[in-house]
Parts: sequence; structure tokens; C-alpha cells
Amino acid sequence: MDNALSRRAVVAAGLASLQAQSPEPVKVGIIGIGLRSRAHLSALKKLAAGSKITALCDLESERMAKVNQELPAKAEMYTDYRELLRDRNVGAVVIVTPGYLHHEMALAALRAGKDVVLEKPLALNYREALDIIRETRRTGRIVCVGMQRRYTRTDMEVQRIVDSGAIGPVRYINYEEYRNDWNPQSWKYTDPATGQKTSWRFLKKTSGSSELEFSIHSLAMACGLVKSPMARLAASGGVVHYTGRDTRDLSSILVDFASGARLNYSFSCFSPRAGGKLLVIGDTGVIRRDGGKLAVSTAGKPLEPVKFSGDASDDGAEVRHYKEFFENVRNRKPSPLSPEAALEPAKIAYGAEISISENRIVTAKDFPAV
Ligand SMILES: NC(=O)c1ccc[n+]([C@@H]2O[C@H](COP(=O)([O-])OP(=O)(O)OC[C@H]3O[C@@H](n4cnc5c(N)ncnc54)[C@H](O)[C@@H]3O)[C@@H](O)[C@H]2O)c1
Repeated sequence: MDNALSRRAVVAAGLASLQAQSPEPVKVGIIGIGLRSRAHLSALKKLAAGSKITALCDLESERMAKVNQELPAKAEMYTDYRELLRDRNVGAVVIVTPGYLHHEMALAALRAGKDVVLEKPLALNYREALDIIRETRRTGRIVCVGMQRRYTRTDMEVQRIVDSGAIGPVRYINYEEYRNDWNPQSWKYTDPATGQKTSWRFLKKTSGSSELEFSIHSLAMACGLVKSPMARLAASGGVVHYTGRDTRDLSSILVDFASGARLNYSFSCFSPRAGGKLLVIGDTGVIRRDGGKLAVSTAGKPLEPVKFSGDASDDGAEVRHYKEFFENVRNRKPSPLSPEAALEPAKIAYGAEISISENRIVTAKDFPAV
């Protein structure tokens, strides 16, 4: 073999081994190019080695075209999501549309053989949530619900402290979230009967409720800390400040979990200066989060600021979320944010809606097992 030939052979062997090591990028199609899609696009750009955006879908072509121009390689564009689902160049679908479309789109994606990242909430009601769980099991696809807040440094740290046993078994969580209204520029839903356009976040039929649309991240955190199903709950709330919406701007939920732990959750979205607070009380200690500050007290000692463990180079919650999803897709391993996992906090939001609208206590019997 002459020198040139042997060099080519070495290079070819090197390339072949590199290809064998680096797996095929996951080909991603995104449905819904609104506000939230920016976080998905940004995380996917950072993970360009392991994924490729091959298709986009939105009702608004101009918005979609603008996003497409910024992609390293042009994606196919669709205004009908069913066409995107027929695209063989799409392996995983990211659904970032208003909540009322999640059920229909997730079922269709699963039936088209795609893996799915489904933005929260899982579905608008318990029946629809169960449909998605059953279809996920039937098809064996990987589904990850976009409750990525669990990958923020603060939430991970609170979970780590509780899991370490430092505060003992969790007995009580007090969670207050008082803030401004969110995403005023949301897409407008057109009522087919009247032609009236309203932000989809203001209507129960398009978003479920404020608790399902907003509070769900904090409810998920509480569920992750107590690791026990909801046993009973009572809620109170209404629209006391804004006009032109039927989703609550104020509410409180009291939850008893099967373990005996309790959650007292309150929120409002017309009080930007009021701030928020989290208290996690265990048998032997307390975790307190005030705004961005996290502190812990163990064994009766004074509260000490928490030094964050782990790597200081922070990828951000969305990147962590996608890294895990792609790994799960490659290894065909169920996501920790599977529809089953997303159901428990959703049950609290569904329960709050039932409790307030039917003026009664809701129990686990309102949610018969899957
Ligand atoms: N995980 C989080 O922290 C987080 C944060 C914000 C929003 N979200 C979730 O993301 C989802 C979208 O929220 P958003 O803030 O982007 O809303 P948005 O109103 O900004 O965008 C919704 C987009 O969906 C498009 N759309 C509507 N109907 C469609 C259809 N039939 N086919 C294709 N596209 C359609 C609209 O044109 C719009 O571009 C919701 O489920 C919301 O709960 C999650």
C-alpha cells in the first residue's frame, strides 16, 4: 500500500469510528411557534450535536418563516400539524401549543409513531390525561411532559436536601406565589360561535384553569417532595381583579396527602410587588425560600443560606431537560417526566377546579385509578 492510500485508509477508519461513537441526531419537529417555543429553540440550538430541527408548524406562517431563517439548516414548514406528523424526517415532536390542543395533538403524534415532548399541562382534564397515559403505554413511545422546573438549580437543591433526610419526613409545605399576570401577548383563540378573540390563557375551555396553566410547576414540586398521592383537597378562589376572563386571578388550595403531609398553596396574578415564599417543614428541620434566597435549618439550628452543590456551570433547566429526553429516546427508557409522573400535580389542579366550581371537598375517589 503506498503512503497516500494508507493515509486515506487511516482517515476513513477514524471517520467510521467517530460515526459509530456519535449517535444519529434526533430529528425534531416543533408544533406551536409562540412565546414558549423560544426556550425550546434556544435549548435545541445548544444541543445541536445531538438533535436537528427538521420541521416547524404554526398557524401563523410569517412567524414560523422568521424562526426558520435563524436555524442552521432550513426546516420544512407546515400550517397543519397533521402534515408535520406525516413527515418521515421527524422522529420526535415537541408540542408547544395552548393546553386545549395537547390531547388531540399528543394522541395523533403517538399514533404517527413519534416520541413526544409535550409542554405542560399534560391535558385539560383527568379523562384526557388518562387517554394520553394509555396511548403512551400502548405505543411504547417516549413522552416527556414539559415540567422542566424540576431541573432548575433551586428546585434540584430543595429536592436534594429533602432526599438527604436533613429535615426529616416532610410534614407541611406552605407555598405562596403572588405575581403579575403572565404572557399578555399570548395567542388569541377565536370563539367559533361568536367570532370573539380572547387570549387562550383567559378561558377555561382553552387553558383549563390558572392552577393548571401556572401553578402546576409548584404543585409538581410539592408532589416531588412529599412523594405521596393526594388524598383530599379543598380550594377557594375566583376572578376578583381582572375582567374579560374566566380563569381565576386568585386562589388557595389545601391538600392532604396520603402520607399525612399537607400543602397550603396560594397564588394571585395582579400583585407584582407581593413576591413569593416557600416553606418546607420536616420533623427535624425547615427549608425556606424567600424570593431567590434559599436557607435551611436542621436540628433546631438557625437558618443558614444554602450553598448550591453540583457544577456551577449552569446549562439551564431546558437544556438539562432535553439532554435527558434525548438520552431516554436513544435508550428507549421512560422519562422521569412521563405522563404518569405529570398526572399527580395535574390532579391537584383538576381537583381545585372541581372543589371551587362544585363547592365541595375533593378526594382521591374523584380520580379512579388508571
Ligand atoms: N414549561 C414552562 O415553563 C412553560 C412556560 C410558558 C408556556 N408553557 C406552555 O407552552 C404552551 C404554549 O404557550 P405559549 O406561551 O408559547 O403560548 P403562545 O400563545 O405564545 O403561543 C401559542 C402558539 O400556538 C400556535 N397555535 C395555535 N393553534 C395552533 C394549531 N392548531 N396548530 C399549530 N399552531 C397553533 C399559535 O399560533 C401560537 O404561535 C402552553 O402549553 C403553555 O402552558 C410552558
